[in-house]
Amino acid sequence: MNAHAADATTVEEGLAIQQEKAKFDTKAATDLAMQNTLLTPRFYTTDFDELDAIDVSPVREDWDALLARMKADPNKGHFKKNEDWDAIDWEGMEPELKKEFLDFLISSCTAEFSGCVLYKEMKRRGTNKDICELFSYMSRDEARHAGFINDALREAGVAVNLGFLTKEKKYTFFRPKFIYYATYLSEKIGYARYITIYRHLEAHPEHRFHPIFKWFKEWCNDEFSHGEAFALLMRTDPKITQSFANKLWIRFFLTAVFSTMWIRDHARPRFHEALGVDIDWYDQEVFRKTSTIARQVFPVELDLDHPRWRRGLDAMDRAFRAMDRAKARGGPAGLAGRMMAGSRAALAFVSLYTIPVKKNDVPESVRLEPAY
Ligand SMILES: [Fe+2]
Ligand SMILES: [Fe+2]
Repeated sequence: MNAHAADATTVEEGLAIQQEKAKFDTKAATDLAMQNTLLTPRFYTTDFDELDAIDVSPVREDWDALLARMKADPNKGHFKKNEDWDAIDWEGMEPELKKEFLDFLISSCTAEFSGCVLYKEMKRRGTNKDICELFSYMSRDEARHAGFINDALREAGVAVNLGFLTKEKKYTFFRPKFIYYATYLSEKIGYARYITIYRHLEAHPEHRFHPIFKWFKEWCNDEFSHGEAFALLMRTDPKITQSFANKLWIRFFLTAVFSTMWIRDHARPRFHEALGVDIDWYDQEVFRKTSTIARQVFPVELDLDHPRWRRGLDAMDRAFRAMDRAKARGGPAGLAGRMMAGSRAALAFVSLYTIPVKKNDVPESVRLEPAY
C-alpha cells in the first residue's frame, strides 16, 4: 500500500490508512494502551454542545491568523520515514532500555491518539463553523503523530491497534473548562518536552539512539499551535481563568499534570540515561518552559523553586513506587500497603498544592510564537 497517513489531509483519511495497517498490530501493545491508571494517558469526552456554543469574536483577529496557518498545513508529508530514518537494531537493544523505550512510545502514541479522538468527536458533533474548522485541523495533526509513532513501533514488532482503542477504551468525562486547562497544558508540555529533547540531542547527537527524535522540531510546532488555540478559546470568556474558583482549579491542574509527569519520567531511568538526560533537570526544565508560556493565559504560576516543591515531588514518586510494590505483593498485606501508600501520595499532593503560587497579570495580547 502506498498511501501514507502523513499525506492525509483529513483525520478520516489518516485513520483509514492506519486501520489498513492494523492487521499487524499486537495485543501486548494495545493492552498497555488500554490500561487506565492515574498515570497512563486517558481518553476524554465532554459536553460538546457547550463547546459548540463558543463565540470566538472577542479573539477574532488572532483566531483567523492562527487558523489560516493551520489550514496551510506546513507539516503535511513530514511525518513519514525518509533517508534520515536510520535503521534500528531492536533485537540488539539492551533489554531494559528496550522495555522502557517501548513503554515511552506506546504511552506517547496513546496520548497523541487521545487528542485525536477528542478533537475528531468535537469536529463531528459541532455545528459552529469556527470550532469545527479548528478541531478538524487538530485531529488531522494528532492522527499523523499517533500514526508516525505506530510506524516506529511496528519495526519493533509491536504497534497499538488504534481502531480497537477508540471503541474499547474507557472515556473520562470532563466539563469543557477542565478540557481547556488539561488540554492546553498537555499541548504546551508536549511542545516543551519535544523541543527540550530535540535541542539536547542537537548538542549531543551521540545520544540519539533512535531516529524519531529528529522529527521532534516540526512536531513540537504542531503542539505549540494546538496550545495557542486553547489559549484563544480560554480568552473568549474571562471567567474561565479569572474567577476565584477557577484559579483554584488551574492550580490543581498544574500541580496534577506536573507531578504526574515527574512520576512517569522517573519510572524510565534507563531511557533517560541513554538519552544522556538527567531526569530531575529535564522535568524542571520542561516545567519552567511550560510555566513561562502559560503566563499568556493563566493568572497563577507554580513556584518551582519553593523548597517544598522538589521534596513533594520526590515524596509522591516514592509513594507511587511503594504502591506498585504493594500491588505486586497482593493479598491482605498488599492491600494494607496500597492504602498506606495511597494516603502518603495524597499527603504529598496536598503539600504540593498548598505551596503559595505566584500571581500573574495576563498580557493584553495572548498570542505567542515558539521561542525555544
Ligand atoms: Fe500531537
Ligand atoms: Fe497536539
